[in-house]
Amino acid sequence: MRFGHFDDARREYVIDTPRTPLPWINYLGSEDFFSLVSNTGGGYSFYRDARLRRLTRYRYNNSPLDMDGHRIYINDGGTIWNPGWQPAKTELDRYTCRHGLGYTILQGEKNGIAAAQELFVPRGDACEIDRLTLENKTAAPRTLDVFSYVEFCLWDAMDDSSNFQRNFSTGEVEVVESAIYHKTEYRERRDHYAVFWANTPVTSFDTSRDAFCGVYGGPAAPEAVKAGHCSNSIAHGWAPVGAHHFHLTLAPGEKKSIIFGLGYIENPVGEKFSAPGIINKARAEAMMARYATDAQVDAARRALADYWQELLSGWQLTSGEEKLDRMVSLWNQYQCMVTFNMSRSASYYESGIGRGMGFRDSCQDLLGFVHMIPSRARERILDIAATQFEDGSTYHQYQPLTKKGNSDVGSGFNDDPLWLIACTAAYLRETGDWSILDEPVAFDNDVTRAQSLMEHLRRSFRYTHTHLGPHGLPLIGRADWNDCLNLNCFSEHPGESFQITGPSEGPVAESVFIAGMFVKYGREYAELCDHLHLTEEAASARTAIDAVEQATLTAGWDGAWFRRAYDAFGAPVGSRECDEGQIFIEPQGMCVMAGIGRETGQAEAALKSVEERLDTPYGVVLLQPAYTTYRLNLGEISSYPPGYKENAGIFCHNNPWISCAETVLGHGDRAFAVYKKTCPAYIEDISEIHRTEPYVYSQMVAGRDAPTFGEAKNSWLTGTAAWTFVNVSQYILGIQPTLDGLRVDPCIPHTLAGYTVTRRYRGAVYHIRVENPHAVQKGVQSVTVNGAPIAGTLLPLAKAGESVEVSVILG
Ligand code: BGC
Ligand code: NOJ
Repeated sequence: MRFGHFDDARREYVIDTPRTPLPWINYLGSEDFFSLVSNTGGGYSFYRDARLRRLTRYRYNNSPLDMDGHRIYINDGGTIWNPGWQPAKTELDRYTCRHGLGYTILQGEKNGIAAAQELFVPRGDACEIDRLTLENKTAAPRTLDVFSYVEFCLWDAMDDSSNFQRNFSTGEVEVVESAIYHKTEYRERRDHYAVFWANTPVTSFDTSRDAFCGVYGGPAAPEAVKAGHCSNSIAHGWAPVGAHHFHLTLAPGEKKSIIFGLGYIENPVGEKFSAPGIINKARAEAMMARYATDAQVDAARRALADYWQELLSGWQLTSGEEKLDRMVSLWNQYQCMVTFNMSRSASYYESGIGRGMGFRDSCQDLLGFVHMIPSRARERILDIAATQFEDGSTYHQYQPLTKKGNSDVGSGFNDDPLWLIACTAAYLRETGDWSILDEPVAFDNDVTRAQSLMEHLRRSFRYTHTHLGPHGLPLIGRADWNDCLNLNCFSEHPGESFQITGPSEGPVAESVFIAGMFVKYGREYAELCDHLHLTEEAASARTAIDAVEQATLTAGWDGAWFRRAYDAFGAPVGSRECDEGQIFIEPQGMCVMAGIGRETGQAEAALKSVEERLDTPYGVVLLQPAYTTYRLNLGEISSYPPGYKENAGIFCHNNPWISCAETVLGHGDRAFAVYKKTCPAYIEDISEIHRTEPYVYSQMVAGRDAPTFGEAKNSWLTGTAAWTFVNVSQYILGIQPTLDGLRVDPCIPHTLAGYTVTRRYRGAVYHIRVENPHAVQKGVQSVTVNGAPIAGTLLPLAKAGESVEVSVILG
């Protein structure tokens, strides 16, 4: 069952009922200021860091759900409604929500009054613009009371939701005409405030939640909205809010707009005040002046549309397969931008206070983002690398505001260092910008200990190489990619963090998954050495890699698939010797992607085992059989009920690894079948089962052991976005950036007759037409470039600004 549809021409997903199975959200903003907005107008805003600079509140586990947001109320002669239905939930005569690229439009209609709420974050400004357009569709004049409403967060979202004894006394505001300034803590150490303004003179306003909602009232039916006016309240402590009220009349057929803005303003310390206790509003006034008219807002909307048009024009697909085209050309790339910006910090499932930027997460997010804005990828790589320690290990997370490593989680996740090689190599393949390797980068954010980025990569490689266990496989430390396989943890007390309990230096527990990574990304590192003429280093790296590859094929092999790990006692994990958890997905994907066992037939066997034991109609589950009891030696993975999350859920992130691995063996049909199972556009019709947004990937779908098999959770912020884009664009459609240029080597379903791709690469634009006249899955028969045949599949590098016509015949 569907709850909306894709509008490909407008690049929107259109939702036609507010009663979606879960709130379906969109992200506004792509640089500093971000807002989340749901299909009913719920959501929240922050500046750069969802924990440290939160502008508005959001209560995740609230009942009813999704009550906090960017609110507009209309009181029409006692009938109170919202353009997006929530929170009043008055039945609307008409409702649509259009989620587009960086904007959302909520349209509601009730008793002949149409209201459109258009939300977006303009390019280059730290604010959200909300334009409300009201239309009287009747033949009689109509008088309405219209209200806006946001609830401010006192900046530090963690403190805001816990330190009430202080926070109930600190809240402060100022009001000047239609501008409501939220200035809590500005009197002391903060140099920033928020402003919630309107471009139209207010009839009344409120800044105290108690005054607006009523102490025992709430956003569903605020007392002020019921009364038809606010009380011009000034908040002193408690909960500061911003609410505007307009008493207005619309003539028959008349349309009126009111432009609201929620802005973040920072002042230099010496310029904080214009008079004692009075905040300096010059920057806020300048911001308000930039969005005072409809023409200005229209221009800002156009600039946003142009920005996205330009970004997406670098990778466009036309295949005749509508669902594939819209995912590749639009939604998958859009989600890659969001994961690049947010890492795993702020969504409807990630509170923004739990973690900042994940080291491995951000490195992987780059894989799907680097082609969009290489300069931002470059900057991010350098930021991430600066949180590495001198021994090559890394902080597991860092805060986006400070860019400093989080010491409460620390280090010891032994896959982290290798992901730095993965993203840097991807950047080099995309850009050919070798200068990045010479950039001096701090260790542990200490610039006095800076070394070149190449030296950082060397330490990454060396860290893994010098941390091998008894079988010659890499030590796992606290965990590898699977944060929940905690082999050195042994936690017996509820509430202990699985992430940091136990030693990270366990000298026995090993990971076959990291072995696969070491082979794959170690070889990429060796290629960088080749390029830099570090011949001896490349050779010794390859010797080390070969040894780990051998260990993987022997100690890492279970007979029909790759083992997952060895635990702290040296017992295998992910083996037929185990009572549960006999086979895991991760090593099958990563080892085969690395090419391990391709010649020996082990790769083929491993993927067959995946198909036989892990496959389901909704995707490939992480392991089988699910753990039914808590295992001290395994940790968090066994803490989840069977079928959920890492315990045999369909963890979408590693499904593309299987799809990529299938292409390594030339299995285009199977690769595409795996791709489709978790691909949002392909499962739109089962939205009532899947429940999360049909335009983006979710972190996980409940596995077949779960009572809610097929139900997704944790949408948006998942490495699935980047990996599925890499999967479909490089491994399936076969447009592969290499250190030497673009290669075209598809592995597709035999039923796909052909497709065209427009790919911007190192400043040139390649128009690539692939034809599959013999219905093959893999194999390139001929390539012509600008009409002339070339040998092989590597396209000659075009100069920036050139346009290249490429024709590829498979066979
Ligand atoms: C989740 C993992 C996640 C980890 C991050 C765990 O509770 O199951 O998916 O990687 O937390 O801290
Ligand atoms: C989500 C985390 O963000 C990611 O780092 C981890 O790899 C997966 N969960 C698997 O545990």
